[in-house]
Amino acid sequence: MAIVYNLFKTLSLVVLLKSLAVLAASEDPLQVNYPSVTVHAKDNGNFTMSSGYNGDIEILPGVNNTGKVYFEGEDLLYLFEIILSEPPVWSEHSPFGHIGDFHGGEKVFVQLEALDPEGGQVTYSVVAGALPPGVALDSTLGLVKGLAPDADTTYTFTIRATDYQGKYADKVLQMKVRGSNSCTRTTCRHEGICQDVISDIQCTCIHPYGGKTCNVDCRSNSLGVDSRQKVVPDAHMSAYKSYSTYLAYNGRLNGAGWYGMDSESWLQVDLGNVTQINGVQMQGCSSYYYTTAFYLQFSVDGNSFTNYTTSGVSPKIYPGYSDSGSVYTSSLAQPVDARYVRFVPTNWNRSHRPCMRVDLQGCYNH
Ligand SMILES: *[C@@H]1O[C@H](CO)[C@@H](O)[C@H](O)[C@H]1NC(C)=O
Ligand SMILES: *[C@@H]1O[C@H](CO)[C@@H](O)[C@H](O)[C@H]1NC(C)=O
Ligand SMILES: *[C@@H]1O[C@H](CO)[C@@H](O)[C@H](O)[C@H]1NC(C)=O
Ligand SMILES: *[C@@H]1O[C@H](CO)[C@@H](O)[C@H](O)[C@H]1NC(C)=O
Ligand SMILES: *[C@@H]1O[C@H](CO)[C@@H](O)[C@H](O)[C@H]1NC(C)=O
Repeated sequence: MAIVYNLFKTLSLVVLLKSLAVLAASEDPLQVNYPSVTVHAKDNGNFTMSSGYNGDIEILPGVNNTGKVYFEGEDLLYLFEIILSEPPVWSEHSPFGHIGDFHGGEKVFVQLEALDPEGGQVTYSVVAGALPPGVALDSTLGLVKGLAPDADTTYTFTIRATDYQGKYADKVLQMKVRGSNSCTRTTCRHEGICQDVISDIQCTCIHPYGGKTCNVDCRSNSLGVDSRQKVVPDAHMSAYKSYSTYLAYNGRLNGAGWYGMDSESWLQVDLGNVTQINGVQMQGCSSYYYTTAFYLQFSVDGNSFTNYTTSGVSPKIYPGYSDSGSVYTSSLAQPVDARYVRFVPTNWNRSHRPCMRVDLQGCYNH
């Protein structure tokens, strides 16, 4: 152990002495000494420039700074430019960054403007949110352009303006898009009043017209209980006291027929929603099974039913036909808004059962 220690000490001493000798012996490769100004390039690689008290040192690369000054490969002048440069400044598009209201299908052409205080080129990019579909950003020109989509939406997005030095400024912008005014393309018939809704129209029809464009005469329009249309599903047909397997869903015009039991029986149709009802239709089922008198009950909630009356007291009794096929049709004196309709038979061939095949006339609300 002691031997190793001594050997190390000896070696260190030799190295130190050698270094001192080199220092003492050497002259600096470059040494300029002028009153107050010193330039040293030492052979250990150090280089010193000293201008003395209050003196300036100026480095002028190229003529009029067209050259560069590098520090370990870094362009010092460019670094200073980056450090000193200011980020772009957005021009106000509106106090809330709102760049416009557009109708669907309308041309969008908005010039964004952010200025680089150093006067350089600014490029633009979307960094958050999304432009409306069909609208794009020209990153060089700062143009937001395209065709506004047919939608009712406010689009919010963040645009970043970046200058030559990489300094940037973000701005949150908003674009409001309203669907195109569809009333200019489609109109309501029969003097219905058109209202522009999201990508569509809504007609407020004048009685007795209905349907999407008031093109339907609700006095004669089937609500589709009829088995050939079956707009009303089987599950929306119900009955009280049905005979045998002739259940409610058969009680459709041109269907197999619903058979009741007695004067407590009824057949019910659920139209799914409160619907304007203008008329009723009814068929018997065969030469023995038919209904020759019935009345109607209406309900909006399926719970509380009122008899349809024209006298204000007793229910209005409708006749049917005592045969299998004739369709009895009757308009209501006043249209009724209801979701549930009950057909209550009061007379039939007493040797048999009451039978009904029904439909309703009116218009569904859209
Ligand atoms: C010269 O460089 C050495 C490192 O090589 C450093 O330790 C020393 O302080 C420098 N001398 C001066 C005068 O800057
Ligand atoms: C350098 O700049 C000066 C003053 O701006 C100008 O007069 C001169 O022509 C420039 N020289 C060159 C080589 O660009
Ligand atoms: C009933 O109306 C509501 C809106 O009021 C609608 O969402 C629904 O689809 C309608 N149902 C039917 C069966 O038409
Ligand atoms: C409907 O009329 C029938 C037959 O007249 C009657 O028995 C019944 O109580 C009435 N119902 C309502 C809710 O008025
Ligand atoms: C009722 O049906 C029977 C047969 O079961 C028939 O004899 C009678 O004529 C029918 N009544 C009416 C009014 O049609």
